Amino acid sequence: MAPKVYIIIYSLYHHIYTLALDVQKGLVASGIDAKIFQVPETLPEEILVKMQAPPKPDVPVITVDDLSEADGFLFGVPTRFGTMPAQIKSFLDSTGGLWASGALAGKFAGTFFSTASQHGGQETTAFTLLTYFTHLGLNYVPLGFANSNLFDNSEVIGGSPYGAGTVANGDGSRQATEKELEIARTQGENFAKLLITFHRGLEVAEEEENVKQTNVVESVEAVEEAAVSAEETEAPKPVVTETVKAEEPKAEEKKSRAVAKTEAKKESKCFCIGSTLNLKIVCRIFNNPY
Ligand SMILES: Cc1cc2nc3c(=O)[nH]c(=O)nc-3n(C[C@H](O)[C@H](O)[C@H](O)COP(=O)(O)O)c2cc1C
Repeated sequence: MAPKVYIIIYSLYHHIYTLALDVQKGLVASGIDAKIFQVPETLPEEILVKMQAPPKPDVPVITVDDLSEADGFLFGVPTRFGTMPAQIKSFLDSTGGLWASGALAGKFAGTFFSTASQHGGQETTAFTLLTYFTHLGLNYVPLGFANSNLFDNSEVIGGSPYGAGTVANGDGSRQATEKELEIARTQGENFAKLLITFHRGLEVAEEEENVKQTNVVESVEAVEEAAVSAEETEAPKPVVTETVKAEEPKAEEKKSRAVAKTEAKKESKCFCIGSTLNLKIVCRIFNNPY
């Protein structure tokens, strides 16, 4: 199954939403199951009207419970005074239960931005999310200078090593440029590569663990078989008389008891390699009939 990434945005005037669509393209092109969500609005409708906010982007509103399903998150953040907006903060503040259970620990997170002006605080905004990522145990994945547009000083280009970005102008009139969208796609691709590599690594580790356990079970069986044949070898050589014939079932009994013990060990998941004595000691510790 492809790793799942949730792109979580707040976008009053759709600049962040536009970037999110290209971040999603980069993720999907690299084999990720990527969905865009928005955080719940906290402003009343009358204020939104006064702010001349257009209708919300047509994406579902995320709930805290949704977070456990994803392997990684990319947060699209429009700057407010150089920090994240209250809407995103309010959503992150409601993740206390996930923090307590460690449900997000070990997952991955990244950020991308929109500001009105070129120096309006894209990088400082990233820092305001880092404390949340750190406390939740999320691994922060910066963009770095992964796209050469980040070195281009010939025009205004949003984005930084902390993530893709666009510059909206004070009145929201500027739209994301092709160079900014290219950076957004690169961020999606790079985040995807990391997650896919991580997941393949997990699968390989799991397979190796399974092989290791199978080998241990086989070794235990080999030790058992050796013990049984040693017991049989040590047994007095049968002389074909009436009395010896009567003892033959005992050897059979011993063999089937040994097989039963081996099966019991497999079920009890008590694995150990070594001498029969060690095996007996360890199995006794684990209450396993040896
Ligand atoms: C209350 C408020 C504070 C803002 N503070 C900043 C700021 O510190 N720096 C800046 O460049 N832009 C600032 N902006 C502009 C927003 O960052 C800009 O509208 C947003 O990035 C556009 O993204 P959107 O279209 O996805 O909503 C502010 C906007 C509002 C409403």
